[in-house]
Formats: sequence, C-alpha cells, structure tokens
Amino acid sequence: MPTSSESATNPGLFEAVVNLCKRRGFVFPSAEIYGGIRSTYDYGPLGALMLRNVREAWWRAMIQERDDVVPIDAAILTNPKVWEASGHLATFTDPLVDCRNCKERWRADQIEDVCPNCGSKDLTEARPFNLMFKTYVGPVEGDSSVAYLRPETAQGMFVNFLNVLTTMRRRPPFGIAQIGRAFRNEITPGNFVFRTREFELMELEFFVPPADSPRWHQYWCDERLAWYTRYGIAGEKLRLRPHEKEELSHYSAGTTDVEFLFPWGWGELEGIANRTDFDLRAHQDSSGTSLEYFDQATGESYLPHVVEPAAGATRAMMAFLLAAYDEDEVGGERRAVLRLHPRLAPYQVAVLPLSKKDTLAALSRQVLHRLQRYFMCEFDETQSIGRRYRRQDEIGTPYCVTIDFESLDDRQVTVRDRDSTEQIRLPIDDLVGDLVGRFDT
Ligand code: GAP
Repeated sequence: MPTSSESATNPGLFEAVVNLCKRRGFVFPSAEIYGGIRSTYDYGPLGALMLRNVREAWWRAMIQERDDVVPIDAAILTNPKVWEASGHLATFTDPLVDCRNCKERWRADQIEDVCPNCGSKDLTEARPFNLMFKTYVGPVEGDSSVAYLRPETAQGMFVNFLNVLTTMRRRPPFGIAQIGRAFRNEITPGNFVFRTREFELMELEFFVPPADSPRWHQYWCDERLAWYTRYGIAGEKLRLRPHEKEELSHYSAGTTDVEFLFPWGWGELEGIANRTDFDLRAHQDSSGTSLEYFDQATGESYLPHVVEPAAGATRAMMAFLLAAYDEDEVGGERRAVLRLHPRLAPYQVAVLPLSKKDTLAALSRQVLHRLQRYFMCEFDETQSIGRRYRRQDEIGTPYCVTIDFESLDDRQVTVRDRDSTEQIRLPIDDLVGDLVGRFDT
C-alpha cells in the first residue's frame, strides 16, 4: 500500500503533473486566499470538466452499455442506524498513534515505530480512530440528532435494495450503481488528490445468487481492469492484487485491488470486494424488514451475495493525468502534452481562427456553434497559432480545428491531431461526422 511517507520513485512526473494542474486550472488548493486547508482541493474549470468525463466514462461502461445495472442517487446524510447496522460505527477505524515529542498524529500501519516528522520513538500505543465525520441534524446538538457524512455510497444501495428490486422488476444477477461524494476523516491525507478527506466514489453493488459470487468476482476484476486500459492507461502500469487476510475490510470475504503504478510505487485505484450477504443480512436484522429475494423458478427465498467494484473518481482522474503526461519535441521545440483519451480530455475540440481579424470571426463562430452541440469546445483567437496548439496539447485537447482565410472561399477547415500533430483539411459540412467517428470507442 502506498503511503505519503514512502519515497517517490518518479518525483519529476509527480511535480510536473501537480504544477500543471495548478497552472492550467485543473486543481487548486481549497480556499487558497485563506491559506488553504490541509490536503483539501477545489476542482477548477478544467478539473471539473475532466472529473465529469471520468464519471461519464464509468457511467457509460457500468450502466449505459449494460442491461443489468440501474443507477440511484441516495442522500449523503441518512439515518445513523444505517452506520450502526453496517458496522461502520464499530469498526470503520484506523489505528492512530501520537508522537509524544512533536504531537503529530500518524496511522500506526503506515509508519515503522518512528515519527516521520521528528524521528522520535516516543509514540503512544495505537488506538482505533473512527473515520466518519459526525454532525447534528436540526438546531439541537444532542445524542438524538447525531448524523454522519457517508464514508461510502454503498449503504445507499443496500438500504434501497428492496425498493429497486420491486420498482424495477429485477432479479439477481443485477446491480445498483451510484456516483457521489464520500467523506473520511483520514489521519494522514496526502499525495495530492490521492488521499483526501472529501472525495468522489463510483460504486456498483452487484447482487448475485450466493453460489455464483466467486465467478462474478472474477468477472468484475477483469471488467474493471479493462476499463482503465480502455481509457488510456497502459497495461504494464496496472495490476490486480488480491488482499492478504489481515487487510480485508470488516465486510469482505475477499477483495482484489486494481492498482496503478503511481510515481511513488503501486497504489490502489479501486477495490473489488466480495461482500457476501454481510450488508443485506445486517440491515435485515437491524430493520426487521426481510430483504430476501424470492426466486419463482426454484420456489426458494435467499439473501443475495454482493460483488462490489468501488472506484475513486478523483483518484482515477489523478491516475489518468499521470499516465497521460508526456514531453516530446515538435518542430525543434519542447512540448508538454497530455495524451488523454479523447473522452476524458476537458475539451474535445479547440476552435482556432488563424487570425483575430473580423473577416474570420463570423465563420469561426459558426463552426464553433455547430461543434458545441456535440463536443465541449474551447475558442481561442489570441497569440500565434503555434502557441495556441501548445496550450491545447498541454491540457490534452485531442483535436484543434483551424479556420483560415481560404476557409472563407472553399468552406474547408484544418483538423490537427494532438498526438501525431498531423493535419488534414476537411469540408465544414463533414466536420461533425468525422470527429464523432474518432470518439467512437
Ligand atoms: N464501499 C467500498 C469502499 O468504499 P474503499 O476501498 O474504502 O472501498 C474505494 O474505497 C475507492 O475509493 C478506493 O479504491 C480509492 O480509489 C477511493 N478512496 C478511498 N479513500 C479515499 C480517499 N481518502 N481519498 C481519495 N480516494 C479514496
């Protein structure tokens, strides 16, 4: 497991991507004008666009392209009994140690009995620290108004299992998927957006007949690994790693992580867990509502088992950025380029009139408006065309469309490819069709 104290194996790449994120408006330290708040980030215009694309890529693969998964969007604040039943109140903890010398706090499993801050060995005994953020619902702060910010979206799927089963007329195997914010009071957040206290989860709870869960677990491991390569991460930077027994979460009978080779070493992108019937059984016992599925074919009722691929959207975005960052030479000039998958790039197309002169303005705007119906576009008419290409390369825009003076006569424009820098000339009327074809993966 990576930790913020592990030494980086490729600090140059990490620095380059973090700098680019700040400089080009992907990720800002949160509330920077107030000095920020530790390990908390705001997503700027390009980050918001890219994060949305990561979510959409997940949604496409996990919901749109399947007929056995439906989405929900559950509340972040819910009845605290949910967290009691799920085991999070009792066991969603990390082992916390204090350094008696410098007063820093650490996760005991991430340090080697020495304070990484001051080197002292005078550490307290490890004690469990619950990671859930506590708050109060309503004007009175008391035991009866306690609520928690959800540390995972999964429980929203479990407590709605019956609602979805009946309203959508589903039978196992089927899944419920959800994307949303999750909150964990991490003891040692760090490594940029790798580990933060507020982050975004993309989770699927896939309900299956109990005997089928090992097969579905393997299926989802393969599917999820393939999703990262589909969206541009090279196979040698990814691996599946089964958890050791002592690493397993309180609900899991077996978990395999999809790991990415981060600049500091292998780190988790996503966990694929066999949660058995742990959660449905816990909610059934605690609520007194039967959550069994009656199988008309066999005449038997059973509690489905659950296979859960749980991915971090913000962490995935960081991995996609690290995997895409490259530097090369074009026309004797160094360039930084983000070789992002076209569907993940903040802008899919940049529309660039060759000159700022009024003569090109009307046609350029026409082309822009036509493309904006299909793609997220940027319009840029300042600086030399070469510099504008570099700016787009650096933020990963896969295609630049240039309108020049000839375009006024022949109604053709130039399309430039980010990776090869090749340019082709196309009739404006063919532009949308040509570009849509390039995204069709
Ligand atoms: N429902 C299961 C679950 O939440 P998890 O392994 O604790 O499983 C799933 O989290 C994924 O969420 C991780 O693989 C990681 O990508 C992301 N994640 C977890 N904690 C995170 C944090 N503090 N900051 C950013 N991403 C995080």
